[in-house]
Amino acid sequence: MKRTINLGLIGFGTVGEGVVKLLKKNASVIERKSGTRVRIARICDKNPRRAGALNKYGLSRDVFTTKINEVINDDNIDIVIELIGGCEPARKYMLEAIRKGRHIVTANKALLAEHWSEIFSEADKHKVLVYIEASVCSGIPIIQSLNEGLSANKIKSILGILNGTTNYILTKMSKERMDFASALMEAKKYGFAETDASLDVNGMDAVNKLVILGSVTFGAHIKLSDVYCEGIENIMQEDIEYAYNEFGYVLKLLAILKNNGKAIDVRVHPALVPGGHLLSSVDNEYNAVYIEGDAVGEMMFFGKGAGEMPAASAVVSDIIYLSKNINNDIAGRAPYIICNSEKKLKVMNIKDIRAKYYIRISSVDRPGVLSRVSGVLGEHNVSIASVYQVAQGKPRGDVPIIMVTHIAREGDIKKALSKIDRLSMVGKKSILIRIEEPNE
Ligand code: HSE
Repeated sequence: MKRTINLGLIGFGTVGEGVVKLLKKNASVIERKSGTRVRIARICDKNPRRAGALNKYGLSRDVFTTKINEVINDDNIDIVIELIGGCEPARKYMLEAIRKGRHIVTANKALLAEHWSEIFSEADKHKVLVYIEASVCSGIPIIQSLNEGLSANKIKSILGILNGTTNYILTKMSKERMDFASALMEAKKYGFAETDASLDVNGMDAVNKLVILGSVTFGAHIKLSDVYCEGIENIMQEDIEYAYNEFGYVLKLLAILKNNGKAIDVRVHPALVPGGHLLSSVDNEYNAVYIEGDAVGEMMFFGKGAGEMPAASAVVSDIIYLSKNINNDIAGRAPYIICNSEKKLKVMNIKDIRAKYYIRISSVDRPGVLSRVSGVLGEHNVSIASVYQVAQGKPRGDVPIIMVTHIAREGDIKKALSKIDRLSMVGKKSILIRIEEPNE
């Protein structure tokens, strides 16, 4: 029998409006796929002016409220869709809704990354489901793929371009020589950036998303503090250009998760990828996730990771899965996301990772510099693969010496660079950028 599934939407901003738009536009597809009728029963937003958009979608003004309890306490509501973002009060509202037996759809990456175990434990206890597709890479169905489609695999690695804003900035810097500030301003103008854009730039948005992907993959919470993070604030145009022009590498902000069977390596930082690698061609605000599973091999997901309709696509697909399960009286009999709060994951220290490195040293141009620098690197077990030195421009000015190393241990190369930076012939602090060569 076909019943009507009642939705309670919290947050009627860009994504909320996109969800309402898509539910109306694709109503017949949604009914066919879910086997039910899906209806917006309530929309809650603290800004009463947002009710003005309702008549565009044929919804009555009575659907709208500014009082959260009129959604959470309404026993007719089957699914609460949380789209307000941020940890509080979203966490409080979500836990209350779970305790009332409502199923949840959320796009809230910050809340999930921080309170993963609490939310999923509470959902298990109350036999409700929490669906989270829109929290990572918006329209790309990466949660469902890791949770279900690839669940037969041991995941060896995930390399993700998970933040559209920083990818937009780096693309504009690389391809148009646009300066950082102007590129960021454009990303804000197009609506890719977070309300607080420092979360994009400092890598935290990508960290939140990586925590979610990793926690789905391992069935246990990867804590935020387990993830090493560097943003793109200190990236300089000249390194983007030397890396590409002299060595063929493209700079990306990568979210990296690797599993060697003993410990996991989880980090977000700028990284150079070979110009021929698929990830190097992911430009502008696009996101991509490159996965290697032991059975399936390598694959890449690509698409829009931000924006009204890509996010709505993910939220509405969650609504469809949930509605189908509710209609068949099976929603909550088994959890969707497995979260084992007892499971402890061993996380690798950044000092112990092994990679190739791009280093730029600023030095006076005089005999013996290269041998001194390479001597220090050698003493620390760092072997040089190639070197490029720019000819001296002005008398006695520093010149950049750029090196790409063979695979080395991060702790070793950091020690070597700190020694190099103390040499009298070396000027400014050296630059280090990790190189990520998939399959190495
Ligand atoms: N600020 C985010 C980004 C939006 O740039 O990717 C989508 O999560």
